[in-house]
Amino acid sequence: MVGRRGVGKTALLNLFFHETDHSQTQCVRVDATESRSLPSMLTPAFHLALLRMSTVDAAKASAARGLRALSSFARGQKAKFADIDVELDYEPEAGLADNGDLDGDLTALLIQIGAAAKAADTALVILLDDMQYIEEAQLAALISALHRVSQLVLPVILVGAGLPQIRGRAGNAKSYAERMFDYPEIEPVIQQTSIGVPMDALK
Ligand SMILES: Nc1ncnc2c1ncn2[C@@H]1O[C@H](COP(=O)(O)OP(=O)(O)OP(=O)(O)O)[C@@H](O)[C@H]1O
Ligand SMILES: [Mg+2]
Repeated sequence: MVGRRGVGKTALLNLFFHETDHSQTQCVRVDATESRSLPSMLTPAFHLALLRMSTVDAAKASAARGLRALSSFARGQKAKFADIDVELDYEPEAGLADNGDLDGDLTALLIQIGAAAKAADTALVILLDDMQYIEEAQLAALISALHRVSQLVLPVILVGAGLPQIRGRAGNAKSYAERMFDYPEIEPVIQQTSIGVPMDALK
């Protein structure tokens, strides 16, 4: 969702979160900020989602592999993103999301999470607010990970919100981002005058 400040994007994301059937999806809510890196924000959200998936018998093995991938990912990225503050001590698996390159590791991680979601017969829904704050290389990594996951038809979806410039920023980060996402434009539902009377009532 793209739209100017105050049009209600966050209010809509919150509505999605509350109206989602949480028995059918694993919905995680992440608020981007200027001061935090994307890996540090995604790590605890993915941790929670994988723990929930691991309670489903059919998904135990793939969720456990996802948790090992997450542990390797957090360790491998800590050198670059010192704000990653979760301690995960799942046995790492050599070669899984651990080469230190954000693009490749986030892709490997998201593939594991997507596989766990599929095994659990659920879908991971990432509700990501204020995407304009995500640094371009980090945004590029997220887009390429989602692209790969969608090629593999794994059940992972991003519902993002941000100021109108996120469309151009996503396109700069990865040229195919323009075609990969819908960019619904959010307008204020009711335009109020300074005395609080809906504009339509004055026409
Ligand atoms: N359709 C709506 N119904 C009720 N309240 C709304 C609606 N749209 C916006 N608001 C209210 O307007 C204020 C701003 O909305 P919100 O924070 O969702 O905007 P935003 O688009 O996320 O802004 P920003 O770009 O600054 O993050 C909030 O107090 C919110 O509750
Ligand atoms: Mg907002």
